[in-house]
Amino acid sequence: MWRFTWIYYLVRDVTPRWLCDFCSVPNPWLNLLWNIGKVALITGSSKSTGAAIAKALAAQGASVVVNYSKDVKSAEELAHQINAASLHSLFTSLSPSSSEIDPREKSANNHDAQTPGPRIQQQQAVVVKADPSTVAGGQHLLQETLRLFGRLDILVLNAGLMGSKTLSEMDETFFDAHFNVNVKAPLFLVKSAAKVMQKPGGRIIFLSTSLTAASTLLPNALCYVASKGAVEQLSRVLAKDLGTQGFTVNTVAPGPVDTALFREGKPQYIIDGIAAQIPSRRIAEPEDIAPIVAFLASPSAQWINGQIIGVNGGYVV
Ligand SMILES: NC(=O)c1ccc[n+]([C@@H]2O[C@H](COP(=O)([O-])OP(=O)(O)OC[C@H]3O[C@@H](n4cnc5c(N)ncnc54)[C@H](OP(=O)(O)O)[C@@H]3O)[C@@H](O)[C@H]2O)c1
Repeated sequence: MWRFTWIYYLVRDVTPRWLCDFCSVPNPWLNLLWNIGKVALITGSSKSTGAAIAKALAAQGASVVVNYSKDVKSAEELAHQINAASLHSLFTSLSPSSSEIDPREKSANNHDAQTPGPRIQQQQAVVVKADPSTVAGGQHLLQETLRLFGRLDILVLNAGLMGSKTLSEMDETFFDAHFNVNVKAPLFLVKSAAKVMQKPGGRIIFLSTSLTAASTLLPNALCYVASKGAVEQLSRVLAKDLGTQGFTVNTVAPGPVDTALFREGKPQYIIDGIAAQIPSRRIAEPEDIAPIVAFLASPSAQWINGQIIGVNGGYVV
C-alpha cells in the first residue's frame, strides 16, 4: 500500500493548492477538497444544525462522526446520504493504512497507549450513539472516533439545550441540565480530545447564541444564555491555551435557526415576530450556519482564533 501513499498526500495536500494557483481561483474553491483525509466529530449531529455541519464538512472531504443520543433514524439517514454522495472510498483505498501512517503524523498524533489501533473506515460517515450531555458520553464518542478513523482533526461542540424558565420557575435540575450539556460535557470532551487531536491544525468549534449579545432578552432565557456565555468565555481562554499547540478554538453564535430546539413552545406569532426583527424577514436555516463552521475548520481560517463569530443575518448588530 505504501506505493500508493504519495498519491494520497498529493491529492490531499498538493493538488488543490496547485490547481487554485494555476487557475487563479480564490481560496473558497479550495473548500471542495481541503478536508480530505481529515476526521470531524460533531456532537448532536443527527438532525438540525449539527446535521448541516456534518454535511458541510463531508462536502469538503472530511470523514464525519454523526452523533445521536435518541434519534437513530435521522442519524442513519444522514450518514447514508453522505456515504451515497461520497467519493471517499476512492481516497481511503489510496490512503495509508494504520500501520503505514506517515511517521510525521504519527508523532504529532499523540495517541494514548491504551487507544486501540486505528481502523481506517471505507465509509465517509459513521453513526455513533452517545449522550453528549455527560462526560462519559463524550469519552465514548472520542474513543469510538479513534477506533473507527484513527485520528481526529475537527471537533464541533454542537449539542445544546435551550430551555425557557424564569428565575422563579427554574430549579437546580433545570440549571444542571443546561450547564451539563452546554458547558461541562463539551469542556471535558475538549480536554480529552486535545491530547489526541492532530497538531498543528486541530480545529475546535463551539456553538453559542446571538442572545449573549442581544438587548431584547426575555427573562426566561436565564439558564440558556448564562450557559452559552460560559461557552464563549471558555472558548476564548482555550484559544490562548491550546493555540500554543497549533489549535484554533472559536465559537459560532447563530441567531434564531429554524429547528425543533428553536420552535419548541413558541406559537407561530412569536416566531413571526422574531423573523420581523431580522433584516431579511426570515429565520435562518441550519444551512445558513454550517458553512461558517466549515470555513472555521478549514486551513484558510488558521488566523481566526479565540473569536465569537455572530451568524445571525443582522438580528443582532
Ligand atoms: N436553533 C436555534 O435557534 C439556535 C440559535 C442559536 C444557537 N443554537 C445552538 O446551536 C446548537 C444546535 O442547535 P439546534 O437548534 O440545531 O438543536 P436541535 O434541533 O435540538 O438539535 C438537535 C441535536 O442535538 C442533540 N441533542 C439535543 N438535545 C440534547 C440533549 N439534551 N442532550 C444530548 N443531545 C441533545 C440531538 O440528538 P438526538 O435527537 O439524537 O438526541 C440532535 O442531534 C445548540 O448548541 C444550540 O444552543 C441554536
